[in-house]
Amino acid sequence: MCGIVGYAGRRDAQPILLDCLKRLEYRGYDSAGIAVIDENREIGLQLFKAKGEIAVLESQMPQMKGVLGIAHTRWATQGKPTTENAHPLSDCTAKLAVVHNGIISNFMDVREALVKAGHKFTSETDSEVFAHLVESELKGDLVKAVTKALEKVEGTFAFVVVSAGHDEIVAARRESPLVIGLGEGENFIASDVTALLKYTNRMIYIQDGEVARISKDSVSIFDQKGDKVEREPQKVTWSLEDAEKGGYPHFMLKEIFEQPDAIHDSLLGRIETVEPEPFFHGSSFSNVKIVACGTSYYAGLVGKYIIEELAKIPTTVQISSEYRYSPVSKENPLVVLITQSGETADTLGAAREARKRGNKTIGIANVVGSAITREVDHVVYTRAGPEIGVAATKTFVTQLVALYLLAMDLGMQNKSLTAQARRSMIGSLRNFPRDVQDVLNKAGEIESLAKKYAQARDMFFIGRSINFPIALEGALKTKEIAYIHGEGFPAGELKHGPLALVSKDSPVVAIAVKDHTYEKMLGNMSEVSARGSPLIAIGFEGDTELPKYVDDVISIREVPPVFTPVPVIVVLQLWAYYLAKARGCPIDKPRNIAKTVTVE
Ligand code: AGP
Repeated sequence: MCGIVGYAGRRDAQPILLDCLKRLEYRGYDSAGIAVIDENREIGLQLFKAKGEIAVLESQMPQMKGVLGIAHTRWATQGKPTTENAHPLSDCTAKLAVVHNGIISNFMDVREALVKAGHKFTSETDSEVFAHLVESELKGDLVKAVTKALEKVEGTFAFVVVSAGHDEIVAARRESPLVIGLGEGENFIASDVTALLKYTNRMIYIQDGEVARISKDSVSIFDQKGDKVEREPQKVTWSLEDAEKGGYPHFMLKEIFEQPDAIHDSLLGRIETVEPEPFFHGSSFSNVKIVACGTSYYAGLVGKYIIEELAKIPTTVQISSEYRYSPVSKENPLVVLITQSGETADTLGAAREARKRGNKTIGIANVVGSAITREVDHVVYTRAGPEIGVAATKTFVTQLVALYLLAMDLGMQNKSLTAQARRSMIGSLRNFPRDVQDVLNKAGEIESLAKKYAQARDMFFIGRSINFPIALEGALKTKEIAYIHGEGFPAGELKHGPLALVSKDSPVVAIAVKDHTYEKMLGNMSEVSARGSPLIAIGFEGDTELPKYVDDVISIREVPPVFTPVPVIVVLQLWAYYLAKARGCPIDKPRNIAKTVTVE
């Protein structure tokens, strides 16, 4: 989730690249860089990078001469957010510059081979290997060199390359978007149309597996076999603001819809190996403690069920702000700190306390190089990309993915998870993007239902076992986005008090997937409907029992019980979003709360 722009024309490239890049800053903002080629071949490649926002780059960069160039704003996924790791990245000859979005999953192997062949690396990034690969393949034709280099990389990517002595930009993509903007005597390339709308609305989208050559006067696209592809430009009618949100009315909805990609990226390179590297060599843990706040805490509660089921390790979960007051455990647990921002003061305090107590610590974070990453022994990054909406959505789902990976790791280490069980788990993890996409395809249906219940003042969410914390997260989303008083309960608890509040004005959302608690859930749902409360159930497709108990059903594709939290929470995210939309709430910036909470 970084931003890429490129320009080939007759005007000075530097100010245009910077202007385009600023429109992509919402995609990533930990470092930025620019490379310009001097067409008179006197200076060659001019490259400048800076840590921080684009404004820092702008204030520090020297004036560059040339009408061709590329620029990048980074959201770190591999390698810390430093000037060295910022893009563009160059090769040993310092004549090439490459910008990259995505992840090269086999970069370790490629890098090792390149180092053996004498290449010297200046960054920790996966992206730099591509600059060196192109360098080794470059015999004159830049398109050919890029095509050859592509054969050696695995993963997802958008690459854009320039080289001194070549009056063109070469671009390639696999699963990471790239669009060419057509101008008069000038052409552009970018990761999103947003970057280019000020200059042109005529766009050609590059497709997976294609390579493009862009010069000031022409654009050529080649398919995987090297054959030329003819494609008509499309006219984009979005306003700049629409484009920033990818055409979605709110960042929250955009981010909900990005979840299949976010999950895919979070899994990439982490489940392919038969015998993966353990998170901690030679350590075994008799128990685990998860510490986090808000939505991340609910991810932790789900994590407890996952770890206990897959790795058979007793797990406790605690709110970060309470952790430091808890007694020191004699059992020396592995402490897992979950925070999407990596900056939450309470969770940072908890991480320091855990270290003081002599515990091994793991951080699950979305922001590379954020404060938490300096406070823990090992970091598992979720690769959700920047989340702008205050409500955590794609970061929550990728936190769950990280917890499945952690549980697999612990289960393999203590031998409670067999290789066969791991393989079957991996199959389910690989299906997540499809399972989530299935739910997203039902957005219209969920919106109609949400409209029906949008005027409720109170709403209850019930679930059992691993879906109890999902009920809590559904309630939190409903509170913070739709301003409806929402509460989550283990379904069996209703009769111990909350039933007193249930009435025809308080709809109840029941998570009733077919697991070992299903029969009990049906009983709890009957208790609710007997009190006249409207009942909405989330269940498996093909369940013919559920409609007999409830007013409305939202169905999800059947998955093994331990994996149900992922599709179920996507239903509840859409539910909260459409409730909020129907009530006219300020969805991306709910009152009184902030994206990152840096006070205790
Ligand atoms: C959830 O939608 C909220 N944004 C909030 O509960 C959040 O999860 C909490 O503040 C923790 O943030 P963190 O993951 O950045 O630590």
